[in-house]
Amino acid sequence: MAKEPARVLVTGAAGQIGYALVPMIARGVLLGVDQPVILHMLDIPPAAEALNGVKMELIDAAFPLLKGVVATTDVVEACTGVNYAVMVGGFPRKEGMERKDVMTKNVSIYKSQASALEKHAAANCKVLVVANPANTNALILKEFAPSIPEKNITCLTRLDHNRALGQISERLNVQVSDVKNAIIWGNHSSSQYPDVNHATVGGKPVRELVADDKWLNGEFIKIVQQRGAAIIKARKLSSALSAASSACDHIRDWVLGTPEGTWVSMGVYSDGSYNVPAGLIYSFPVTCANGEWKIVQGLSIDEFSRKKLDLTAEELSEEKSLAYSCLS
Ligand code: NAD
Ligand code: LMR
Repeated sequence: MAKEPARVLVTGAAGQIGYALVPMIARGVLLGVDQPVILHMLDIPPAAEALNGVKMELIDAAFPLLKGVVATTDVVEACTGVNYAVMVGGFPRKEGMERKDVMTKNVSIYKSQASALEKHAAANCKVLVVANPANTNALILKEFAPSIPEKNITCLTRLDHNRALGQISERLNVQVSDVKNAIIWGNHSSSQYPDVNHATVGGKPVRELVADDKWLNGEFIKIVQQRGAAIIKARKLSSALSAASSACDHIRDWVLGTPEGTWVSMGVYSDGSYNVPAGLIYSFPVTCANGEWKIVQGLSIDEFSRKKLDLTAEELSEEKSLAYSCLS
């Protein structure tokens, strides 16, 4: 029997990630090729015409799985009945703007969209925040949507995770699909810690195969931390196709499960695991089954890693205070 369509909200759908993401969703990359979808696309009034153009293209592409498209600038209409919410919309940093200015704008957007999701989304709606500052926007969303279970509110660090796999695959000249169990700890920012202490290729430790701790503890970490900036420099625009694809990986693995013996990185609400302060949205290694994520427990953390886990947690605590100061 055919499945009921799932309603998927994409905010900021007229933007560049949105343009890469919506056809992936309509092709079944997000939820599987047997899951029909109804797309809800939200943007702001200045982008309404462009948003309508995206809707026209979705119709023209005649995707068999796509059972409907809502394109709107009305947040209530956009959020009504959605089962999944991919939050890409936000205010980008412009020339001359301070970090606090961007934070003020985004925190108030995420506060009001949290209320709309809380009131109008389907029960058990799963939320992925992509827009920067992704971890802190997700935290604000969680705080202002108290009836959405905290385990349903996450942010995207899968792009960083995939970047780490990509760098190891390039270095060792192996298939990226053979590289497993890298970890991104912390913030989706340059303070994140890409950790390969438990990563493997074909079952062998990456540390043994690379056999260059200087590179793994230095340049590798820097490349992954700075990859977003390198893409901006090269494209004069921030990453879009890789961000869209990784957003699909995040939700698909969350809903359909991670393969046996493999974990992925997700920004999730900290429960204090690995002595990361509770009450932050922090990227951890997780496995997923039956639509639920679980933090991988018991991994050894050496002194080098401990410092890096703490440093990115400190940055997130500062962002949290800044976000709250913007709200008061
Ligand atoms: P973009 O500027 O092309 O698109 C953003 C869209 O959001 C625009 O269409 C804009 O009109 C819309 N928007 C602004 N305010 C809105 C609101 N209140 N409600 C709904 N829509 C709104 O940007 P992009 O390149 O698509 O990137 C989107 C966000 O994703 C940025 O914050 C970017 O920094 C972030 N990003 C995150 C990751 C990650 O891995 N977490 C990776 C890449 C980009
Ligand atoms: C990325 O990681 O590509 C983006 O978050 C970069 C950015 O600042 O938009």
